[in-house]
Amino acid sequence: MDKIKIKEKLELIDITKEAPDTEPERQYYFMKKASAYVKKLSDELGRPLKACTVTFGCQMNARDSEKIIGILETIGYEITEDEKADIVIYNTCTVRENANLKVYGRLGYLKKLKKQNPNMKIALCGCMMQEPTVVEKLRTSYTFVDIIFGTHNIYKFAELLWTSFENQRLTTKKTKAKDRMIIDIWKDTDKIVESLPSERKYSFKAGVNIMFGCNNFCSYCIVPYVRGRERSRNPIDIIREIELLVADGVVEIMLLGQNVNSYGKNLDDPITFAQLLKEVEKIEGLKRIRFMTSHPKDLSPDLIEVMKNSKKICNHLHLPVQSGSSRLLEKMNRHYTKEKYLQEVADIKAAIPDISLTTDIIVGFPGETEEDFEETLDVVRKVEYDSAYTFIYSKRTGTPAATMDNQVPEDVVKERFQRLLDEIQTISAKRSKRMEGMEVEVLVEEENSQDDTLVTGRMSNNMLVHFEGDKSLIGQLVTVRLDECKNFYYLGSRVS
Ligand code: SAH
Ligand code: SF4
Ligand code: F3S
Repeated sequence: MDKIKIKEKLELIDITKEAPDTEPERQYYFMKKASAYVKKLSDELGRPLKACTVTFGCQMNARDSEKIIGILETIGYEITEDEKADIVIYNTCTVRENANLKVYGRLGYLKKLKKQNPNMKIALCGCMMQEPTVVEKLRTSYTFVDIIFGTHNIYKFAELLWTSFENQRLTTKKTKAKDRMIIDIWKDTDKIVESLPSERKYSFKAGVNIMFGCNNFCSYCIVPYVRGRERSRNPIDIIREIELLVADGVVEIMLLGQNVNSYGKNLDDPITFAQLLKEVEKIEGLKRIRFMTSHPKDLSPDLIEVMKNSKKICNHLHLPVQSGSSRLLEKMNRHYTKEKYLQEVADIKAAIPDISLTTDIIVGFPGETEEDFEETLDVVRKVEYDSAYTFIYSKRTGTPAATMDNQVPEDVVKERFQRLLDEIQTISAKRSKRMEGMEVEVLVEEENSQDDTLVTGRMSNNMLVHFEGDKSLIGQLVTVRLDECKNFYYLGSRVS
């Protein structure tokens, strides 16, 4: 929703009355209340109040952070990237253990900042907060945290913030810090609240949630436990959101879901992901469509057909394989074999010969033998990925894999991990070279951070290109000749 419409909506709300029970009206009510408080405090301090949101994890979290920032802006905060702010929100990830450690580490720094600024609020949200053990630890040992909420009630942020302001006003010096903390975690919900304010990081490209949660329960993965059951958004809401984005200057969208290939199955009028893509394709003015993530078990011939015939879907498919060993894939609960995966890859390449394939791979899943690992290397060689995200297996308490026998020793995992990286680098360097000399369409994204005579853009296959240009090109689609391949990116020159 644009800023003018939000302003109009807020003007109609009477904050002297009781809060409405319906959403999103209730949240607009609390945004207005919080905004009056923020204005008062800002007048007292003689400066604007600042808010900083730090995002960990995946595209889902990045999108959620945009929603949080939209709410903060509506309340009247000035957005900053500096953590020396009046409110700092960490939107956390818990997919691997080191994601959690990072957050605990940085909280110590926030504690110091809060000592310098007594009005400062610290809020934690996101996937890590859906773990009861984490919340318990924070409640007892990190009592300077003001607000904790989860992945299912992000839309309620204004209400929680207002409650925290009220708490601060009503508490005395004797109130224990941990009793001041607002903790609101929901286990799961079917609710999808539409029409809330949302800021966008880029003016020309945007992520659009098409579904939330995940039903797959891959045996190593914590996401289904922290993001809840799979629920799809209504296609009408998705299309309307994209149309508004396009009207606002967006040319590229990324459809987001943990497993986009199973989109629409739980709707009253079920539709497939391939059908949704066809509808999105029709939106005039939209130039590029991306999506992630595709689960190999649900990749349909229909989807391949739609990708092949589309003029807008980008030339890239992220298809996480996780392992090349059928034995391990079964233990991972992935519902495909190495052979099925390779067949899918063959089908895609037959339909779209120059498609760029990328993947996710886990090294050191419990019981992984040298033979299993060799199977993974074999898939990497056969598929010839343009790039791959590689992860060392991380034990997540509560997942079936955490209690499996034969956890692989650290030194063995590290050695395999390095071999995998070397293999991927060799292959992606060779793959990238093939495009040298070609002229391709590039969406210009930003000025180059190291050299201000250059701008950086993305090709349809998601690779980066740096070329001479200025920031007036940002958001435009231009043609660039790929002069020199530098393994993970190109140096190019603009043709038109
Ligand atoms: N829904 C997506 C992935 C989401 S998580 C999919 O199914 O492809 C992103 C990646 O993190 C996964 O693909 C997997 O490779 C990795 N991952 C998830 N849990 C992990 C764990 N416990 N240890 C290491 N890597 C993990
Ligand atoms: Fe995790 Fe598997 Fe769901 Fe992806 S599909 S989020 S890896 S459980
Ligand atoms: Fe992390 Fe949650 Fe995404 S656990 S990877 S931020 S869904």
